[in-house]
Amino acid sequence: MATWKIVGALLLILHTGFCQRPVRWCTISDPEQRKCQAMSQAFSEVSIRPSLSCVQGPTIEGCIQKLQKNEADALSMSSTDIYNAARTANLKMAASESKAGDISSYYAVAVVKKANSGINIHNLAGKKSCHTGKGRTAGWNMPLGYLIDQGYMSVMGCNISQGVANFFSASCIPGANQDGDPASLCELCRGDSTGQHKCEMSNNEMYFSYEGAFRCLAEDAGQVAFIKHTTVEENTDGRGPAWAQALKSEDYKLLCRDGTTADVSQWKRCHLVRIPFRGVVVGSGVTPSVVFNMLKEGLEKSGFNMFSSAGYGGGTVLFSESTTNFEGAESEDLKKWLGSNYYNVMGAMDCQSTVVPKVLRWCVLTSKEQQKCADMGVAFQSKSLTPSITCVHGDSLTDCMKRIKNNECDAITLDGGYIYTAGKDYGLVPAAAESYTDDREGSTYYAVAVVKKSSTDIRNLDDLRGRRSCHTGYGRTAGWNVPVSSLMERGLIHPEHCEIPKAVGGFFKQSCVPGANQRGFPGNLCDLCVGDSSGKNKCEKGKDLYDGYDGAFRCLASGNGDVAFVKHSTVFQNTDGHSSESWAADLQSKDFQLLCSQNTKAEVSQYRYCNLARVPSHAVMVRPDTNIHAIYGLLDRAQEYFGSDTGSGFKMFDSKDYSGTDLVFKDSTLGIVAVGDRKTYQEWLGQGYLNSLIDMDCNSSSAVVSSVGLLLTAMLSHVLTNIWL
Ligand SMILES: *[C@@H]1O[C@H](CO)[C@@H](O)[C@H](O)[C@H]1NC(C)=O
Ligand SMILES: *[C@@H]1O[C@H](CO)[C@@H](O)[C@H](O)[C@H]1NC(C)=O
Repeated sequence: MATWKIVGALLLILHTGFCQRPVRWCTISDPEQRKCQAMSQAFSEVSIRPSLSCVQGPTIEGCIQKLQKNEADALSMSSTDIYNAARTANLKMAASESKAGDISSYYAVAVVKKANSGINIHNLAGKKSCHTGKGRTAGWNMPLGYLIDQGYMSVMGCNISQGVANFFSASCIPGANQDGDPASLCELCRGDSTGQHKCEMSNNEMYFSYEGAFRCLAEDAGQVAFIKHTTVEENTDGRGPAWAQALKSEDYKLLCRDGTTADVSQWKRCHLVRIPFRGVVVGSGVTPSVVFNMLKEGLEKSGFNMFSSAGYGGGTVLFSESTTNFEGAESEDLKKWLGSNYYNVMGAMDCQSTVVPKVLRWCVLTSKEQQKCADMGVAFQSKSLTPSITCVHGDSLTDCMKRIKNNECDAITLDGGYIYTAGKDYGLVPAAAESYTDDREGSTYYAVAVVKKSSTDIRNLDDLRGRRSCHTGYGRTAGWNVPVSSLMERGLIHPEHCEIPKAVGGFFKQSCVPGANQRGFPGNLCDLCVGDSSGKNKCEKGKDLYDGYDGAFRCLASGNGDVAFVKHSTVFQNTDGHSSESWAADLQSKDFQLLCSQNTKAEVSQYRYCNLARVPSHAVMVRPDTNIHAIYGLLDRAQEYFGSDTGSGFKMFDSKDYSGTDLVFKDSTLGIVAVGDRKTYQEWLGQGYLNSLIDMDCNSSSAVVSSVGLLLTAMLSHVLTNIWL
């Protein structure tokens, strides 16, 4: 009996002892340590549980490490520090410091004059810009990070100053007068009233800080000012210094991220970046609500003035002096708490030339591609582009993906179907993409079904049954995945047990599907193929004359096929004298037509309305730890020199000099674009196209369990109805 009592008492002690383990607050300075101890004392006087103890970091980095190692539990940090912690440590958010209910520090906005009505966020390139100062938040890190992250501005080798100088025609960026800063960054600055101290990072420069950057816009030195949301209202309508007295807020407007503009009062919905304020971060083993409740209770009961640092030298000591309350964290996840907008913008500016690779190893498959890649390396070097290019030979696309994953290689340009594999099986991410048109939607293409105009008896996809088909290759997007999906969608084929090749072989009489020369595949999928120029390697991927876009079109044009599954630009590239190949010399685009998914036919120029799918373009895929902005920065700079298909020098988007097609990049590429918000392989592919790839992928998992295949087939009609709309 007595023994049980003792054990019970011990358990009670252990239990309460465990619950009441003090919260160990981490401090980063002596004043913080003293304030923390005073706070701990005040809390214990009103019996706040758990109690508070104080641990010296004694720096932010030290505190983050102590939180990681469970040697401390909590501290409050600025959003910049939280960003750094989010990248390196596994921690949780427990609370936000708030100012009168707002947990945002402020908003970074872009302001223009209403009279300058043509300006929007899409066309800032070549404009004149006003910034608060180099390295400052609203005038430098936020707007530039935003422009880089969204791919408006490119930066090579982390040389952001140079990127800014290439992007804006002239600027005033006080402080951008250091070694290596291009002169245009200070061009619009004025200095003081006598013209001295031009571009200084101080009030001697008339256009310094928020007020100055706004003045730079107001006086028409620049066309856009990067400031914070309150700056215009503080310096218009009779407020602000003498020079601002006559300014009217209604003469200014904000540039929104969606390309529209808004009244200056609309900053909450129309800004570049919302900058979070401060938040309490805790170790991964700490229950966030315990810390939040302790702080709230302390605030209500202890009488300790947590938001004053008067007795501790002033400034931010433990908490900001402008804080008025604690709010529960919207998310325990640091990245989510910061918001993807802010997190990505910080990531874009988080670029040190020391971490950018000196060399980018491109994976190549054939000797022709190796040759072009090597020439590309030499050409880029001649313009001092960084990183420099070397070429690594891979045995196959999957071998290249594996090599990139294993850090034996860094980059390769891939088609949608392979982007799926590269993302799903090898964890790769898109870094930049090809664009085939001049507009902003140019990073997509259209998968089309081309027939000869003379085939009047083929009126729609249904009429293709028992015909001869030409495909770019097995597993490829425009040539296989999309048309096969379309056939399934229309109920024209019903693959059993996910045996898609068998179903396709049963639908067409004969085909050429390079890569379908596999055991267990119907032989007629290779019937139309012709092999290489010596008749060997029939139906071999990459080797058959009917392989790829041009090959599939050749298969149609040369008379063997009735339909070619290619992309919209393939017809134009091989007709009307655009190709020098003898088989294409006399072809006319007007002799071909497209089969639309809506049961009709249309001229080849109508691809936007008559296609089987809109497909994301080929993308350069890299490891997730690669700085994608540095890759885009290199390729964007490179295309200024080598993007043209004419002239005598190296041509990035042409493979004729190597008697090949689509080497390194597709020949139909007009330019390289950034990936913007589509940063994962899923985001790049888009849900609809991704679904179709998943359908095509069903073999690997369901051949084993055929009932899953049947289930999938049953689901397809439902899923596919929504795909290609
Ligand atoms: C940026 O590029 C300019 C011009 O090429 C160069 O002078 C400067 O040193 C570079 N700055 C850095 C930080 O690499
Ligand atoms: C389906 O999977 C089986 C077994 O894994 C394999 O032999 C066959 O080649 C695959 N078929 C397709 C169409 O990929």
